[in-house]
Amino acid sequence: MSLLAIETTCDETAAAIISPERKILSSVVASQDELHARWRGVVPEIASRAHVERIIPIIDQATHEAGIQKSQIKAVAVAIRPGLIGSLLIGLSAAKAIASSLRVPLIGYDHLAAHLYACRLAFGEELRYPAIGLVASGGHTSLFQLHSPITLQALGSTIDDAVGEAFDKVASMLGLGYPGGPQIEKLAEHGNPHSRRFPRPLANDFSRLDFSFSGLKTAVRYQIWPPGDQHARTLTDEERADLAAAFQQAAVESVVAKVGLAIQKTGCRVVAVGGGVTANKALRSALEDLGKRHRATILIPPTELCTDNAAMGAIAWEHIDR
Ligand code: KG4
Ligand code: ZN
Repeated sequence: MSLLAIETTCDETAAAIISPERKILSSVVASQDELHARWRGVVPEIASRAHVERIIPIIDQATHEAGIQKSQIKAVAVAIRPGLIGSLLIGLSAAKAIASSLRVPLIGYDHLAAHLYACRLAFGEELRYPAIGLVASGGHTSLFQLHSPITLQALGSTIDDAVGEAFDKVASMLGLGYPGGPQIEKLAEHGNPHSRRFPRPLANDFSRLDFSFSGLKTAVRYQIWPPGDQHARTLTDEERADLAAAFQQAAVESVVAKVGLAIQKTGCRVVAVGGGVTANKALRSALEDLGKRHRATILIPPTELCTDNAAMGAIAWEHIDR
């Protein structure tokens, strides 16, 4: 008997089959990157329409790859918040229809809690509670204290843009495609992170665990198109790589500073991380260094469990088993 999990919070249509032992029997993700690339960001209406077309084939593929019949599905789980409202509705409608036709329970789960539950899938009992949780994605940059897989206490979050949004917009300014994070990461490999120093807003404010990225975004823009100038500057390849590297350095340090502060403030020595931006190698290695400095265990899932997927919907077993 298995769980069918469905995930359509943003621009990935995903379905997974997970056993009660939390074994991922299949995990299928259909990315819509190519549909949104020309807009350099997710267009909600395009996302919703693509989910409608893809959701049933993706669910069929997930059951097929898991080698199970629909009659073996014991419960249906679906991410119900937070996300784009149109996208969420498609996943929820599909989940409701399947649960009702199979006469099995329907469980709605929180997408951010699920991002952190990916650590439970990857590391099992190494994720001890209470722990600190960091979600860094295209829509969120948030810190939590986790008292259990499904009990999250907010410690802080971004007061403006998410860090992934900053990666995507800086990529757009540099003429790179969408999603921008992986492309900035690649370009940054050839650049000098110390070529210039971008601001790290709020990073030195030890009174709060909030983040801010909009000023960093603007600072990059002013380097490319100085205020008052008629035109944007024409950048050399070296300058573009340096800008990408210096931006990434500032973004990574801004995130890591607050994780360090959260460890100090809470005394928790276990940190679970998740969300698309935690696929970034510079961030992963900076978090590992932070862990060594604070003698904390930093749990970073494999990249396919960092970006949006439905396997993390395994969190629904925690609701069922309760
Ligand atoms: O978690 P996710 O797949 O979807 C949301 O819930 O938002 O995160 C997507 C975000 C995008 O902003 C994307 O540019 C960013 O994660 N991202 C990265 C990397 N891979 C994905 N950012 C930096 N470096 C990466 N390697
Ligand atoms: Zn996400």
